[in-house]
Amino acid sequence: MARRCSRATSRFTGNIETHLRKLETSAVLLCLCLLFPSPAEAGLYTASDQILVLTPENVDSVLINSTAAIVVEFYASWCGHCIAFSPVYKRLARDIKEWKPAVDLAAIDCAVEENRKVCTGFGIRGYPSIKFFNAYSKGDSTGQDIKGFPREVQGLRQRIIDKMETHEEPWPPACPPLEPTSQAEIDIFFETNSVEHLALIFEDSKSYIGREVTLDLLQYENVAVRRVQSTEEALVAKLGVTEFPSCYLYYPGGNFTRLKVQIEARAFYSYALQRLPGVVRSGRPRPVPSDLLTNNTEEPWRPFNSSRVYMADLESTLHYSLRMELAAHPVIKGEALTSLKSYVSVLVKYFPGRPMVMNLLKSVDSWLKGQTGAEVSYTVLREILDNSAQVPDTALPEGVRWVGCQGSKPHFRRYPCGVWTLFHVLTIQAKTSGGSEPQEVLGAMRGYVHNFFGCRPCAQHFDAMAQESLTQVNSLSTAALWLWSRHNRVNNRLAGALSEDPHFPKIQWPSPDLCPACHGVKKTGEHSWNLEQVLSFLLSYFSSNSLLTDYLQDESQVLAKQRERHETQQLALRRIERKAREALDSITQPPPSQPTQEEDEEEEEEEEGPEEEEEGAEGAAAAAEMGGKASEPAPWAKPEAEVGRGRRQAQRKPSIVGMRLRDVQEDIVDLDSFVNQHYKAKALRAAASSRVKRRSLQRKEEQEPGPVFGLGMELDVGLGMAGLQPVEPDLGLGMGQQRKRLQKRGLTGQYFGGSEEVEFSQQLYSHRGRWMSVLSIGFSKVDISLCVILYFLSCMCLLAMYLYFKNRLRLRRAKVALP
Ligand SMILES: Cc1cc2nc3c(=O)[nH]c(=O)nc-3n(C[C@H](O)[C@H](O)[C@H](O)COP(=O)(O)OP(=O)(O)OC[C@H]3O[C@@H](n4cnc5c(N)ncnc54)[C@H](O)[C@@H]3O)c2cc1C
Ligand SMILES: *[C@@H]1O[C@H](CO)[C@@H](O)[C@H](O)[C@H]1NC(C)=O
Ligand SMILES: *[C@@H]1O[C@H](CO)[C@@H](O)[C@H](O)[C@H]1NC(C)=O
Ligand SMILES: *[C@@H]1O[C@H](CO)[C@@H](O)[C@H](O)[C@H]1NC(C)=O
Repeated sequence: MARRCSRATSRFTGNIETHLRKLETSAVLLCLCLLFPSPAEAGLYTASDQILVLTPENVDSVLINSTAAIVVEFYASWCGHCIAFSPVYKRLARDIKEWKPAVDLAAIDCAVEENRKVCTGFGIRGYPSIKFFNAYSKGDSTGQDIKGFPREVQGLRQRIIDKMETHEEPWPPACPPLEPTSQAEIDIFFETNSVEHLALIFEDSKSYIGREVTLDLLQYENVAVRRVQSTEEALVAKLGVTEFPSCYLYYPGGNFTRLKVQIEARAFYSYALQRLPGVVRSGRPRPVPSDLLTNNTEEPWRPFNSSRVYMADLESTLHYSLRMELAAHPVIKGEALTSLKSYVSVLVKYFPGRPMVMNLLKSVDSWLKGQTGAEVSYTVLREILDNSAQVPDTALPEGVRWVGCQGSKPHFRRYPCGVWTLFHVLTIQAKTSGGSEPQEVLGAMRGYVHNFFGCRPCAQHFDAMAQESLTQVNSLSTAALWLWSRHNRVNNRLAGALSEDPHFPKIQWPSPDLCPACHGVKKTGEHSWNLEQVLSFLLSYFSSNSLLTDYLQDESQVLAKQRERHETQQLALRRIERKAREALDSITQPPPSQPTQEEDEEEEEEEEGPEEEEEGAEGAAAAAEMGGKASEPAPWAKPEAEVGRGRRQAQRKPSIVGMRLRDVQEDIVDLDSFVNQHYKAKALRAAASSRVKRRSLQRKEEQEPGPVFGLGMELDVGLGMAGLQPVEPDLGLGMGQQRKRLQKRGLTGQYFGGSEEVEFSQQLYSHRGRWMSVLSIGFSKVDISLCVILYFLSCMCLLAMYLYFKNRLRLRRAKVALP
């Protein structure tokens, strides 16, 4: 495809003049080729298929001197049979993943120019071809052809076993013996081997089960598997075996018991044997009994029923997702914003949460729905998440309390486990509550994972799976089953990985213990899932009725904690605000009588809520006027009158939030910017105060084009940005007109009703914001404040000099004029 793409573009570029349209198309094609790795680059397989992708660079290191035998598929990505075969080969790779140390799978795309030499070197003429390379192959080995190989997993697996059995010396060290055992070997087995369990699989001569299970367990310690043929009469008689196949556990001293499985088949033997006491994956620590886990983790261990789902995990997941993961994105825009919206809207629709949590999700949802601008700021979103408006009975508990998702070590399980669980629950809820859109939940999950899930490789893998088959999801049932089967695919890939908690091994879920009816075998003896049973199991396992509420944070405590935190925040905010004012006042207003008066004013303000200061009258009027038409209060906000004095300030913030169309950057009102605004506004006001204060007692209109506007312009010009000025109609208008415009567009919120200075500085900020975004300069707010002050001072200087020289000139003229 890469080659096809480049060919396409070069052909098009040959006819530039005559085919302008085509050129455009080719440009688009080229872009697409660059954006998405073309199939030729990726081939039919990737590393996440658990297939080694061969290239001229790695082919020698993979094939020569390998400790495992290697099966290599030679294919051409354009060949239809290869494409048709690739899913089988991928399934094979998943099926015999546990055999990797003994025999591994690889593939090479012979359609790629650079690979051609390798393929011809191995004498490949047709595709697909499969070759078997012995362990410790020499550099000149061309492998053994597997001719006429079957196009299904079971047949391929058996051909591989045949090859392994006839493997010449040196034998791959990880591969256990595959030949049938005898009474004689069993008698001395425990003298020569130090394992706890010996599993004997009795089978007839044509069966592959014994060898398959032997290889399935080769990565496990403390267990050995041998196959016994039905013709081994002494052993058959000794154990009284009547069924073939069947599996017995044999112990030193000649004791034995039959291994209990639901169905006598490979998958059930392997699963049961891997779970025997003391059996662990090689190199992994032996799991301690779970009652000893108490000492293993930094938090107290919470005993739980591992076959249940806990609401505490779901709430913890929401907390982590919304307060931790999203916080990594200070500004959320574009596709990420769309994804966030659909994630939250799916939560509101299907999350089976308690009322308090649902209220919070609803307020987040309706806020997000109101955000029609290009981006939102996380800081503002956070205000809603923390219910800064103090809407009653609305909260998302802070912090995490993992229960079913606890890991035996802090780095195991937890959040990713919670994410899976959350979305399983959501797909099931969508099904039971009669959602309308089959891909709604999965689409939201895909978007969330793609844009926000912190584990980036996970996101890529998940995206690849979604791209491959999400379109096939056409009902709510298939949606739930799709997620289940993809989750199992991930489990398969991760089984044995370092991220696997030894206490919670990755299995194909649900296990035969958890859902016996979900499992079955085909006529060939292959394991199969009974999808109807799986679906009904999922429906009951993840249903809202069977969610356990143990360890949930108490509702009233959550609400009390939230209120408390909110109050301390408000106090701190007010204290900082006052400090800032005092500091500035002491600099700019030396007369002793005035500061005390101001202080009194402020004390008053705190007691009676933000009463308008004298200059604030106009702003308040504007806000009141605007409140009538433009901004409806957020749906969860109470009407002003109802809100008590203490809540008033809290009330202000959501109403900034209610503003639309405004640059999001400017909506951020954290402590820093609040203080900065105060400093700046104060400085400006102080500088201009003598005049403004007097004039503000006059008519309101007169105040508008006052020195304040002059300063705003100076700021823009002063920063040397005039030349770069974009077409910005607002700038050409007087401040008064501009303000009115803003009001009409609903840009100023009730927030500014409180005081003129905040409104003014906000407007100044919005100018600056535009400039900043035009120039992409990361000035901090302090820098800007300093600039403003410096420019103001230098202008005063210039003015003074101008007046001085003008005076002198006049004096001279006067002198000259004198006779
Ligand atoms: C979208 C996504 C992609 C991921 N991709 C990767 C990756 O590429 N690489 C990586 O290292 N980690 C990945 N992870 C993390 C990994 O899948 C596990 O979540 C993590 O290792 C924790 O494992 P766990 O043992 O808690 O079980 P999890 O796999 O997290 O499962 C949680 C619980 O869900 C239940 N469950 C298990 N299987 C199923 C199933 N098939 N259907 C329904 N319920 C099931 C079980 O009760 C299990 O305890 C991904 C996670 C997510 C959410
Ligand atoms: C393969 O391994 C053998 C012994 O370990 C060594 O002598 C030989 O040089 C190796 N060959 C290559 C090509 O690495
Ligand atoms: C934790 O282990 C220590 C010894 O290592 C033991 O004294 C203590 O009782 C254990 N605590 C619990 C809760 O099991
Ligand atoms: C765990 O839950 C299952 C399913 O509800 C139940 O059958 C089982 O008894 C529970 N186990 C414990 C230890 O409570």
